[in-house]
Amino acid sequence: MGEIRVANQADFAEGGRKVVSVDGVEIGIFLLGTDFYAWLNHCPHQGGPVCQGRLMKGVEERLDDDKKSLGIHYKDGSLNIICPWHGFEFDVRTGQYAGASTLKLKAVPVSVREGGVYVLL
Ligand code: FES
Repeated sequence: MGEIRVANQADFAEGGRKVVSVDGVEIGIFLLGTDFYAWLNHCPHQGGPVCQGRLMKGVEERLDDDKKSLGIHYKDGSLNIICPWHGFEFDVRTGQYAGASTLKLKAVPVSVREGGVYVLL
């Protein structure tokens, strides 16, 4: 299909997202800092509209040197998207599901130039 302009860069706020449809292919585009990320809006678990899910920081458990829990907390700098169907969480930057290394969102190449956001299909 090639490279397609899907949005204006100015349409994105920091931490914002848009879900666009290109010839029936839904893509979620996210802006974190100055970087854009794009994923197919198709959860690798059972096909849910993952890119439309809630965004929140990742949660992790800290351990001391003896592997004793220091409690759970929100991981600074992280951002996960939560699939609305069954709650699987994926890292917005990597597409990786924290619970299994085999589940990952499918990346869509995204680029920005001259004020436009482009995806490559
Ligand atoms: S379809 Fe996304 S978590 Fe099940």
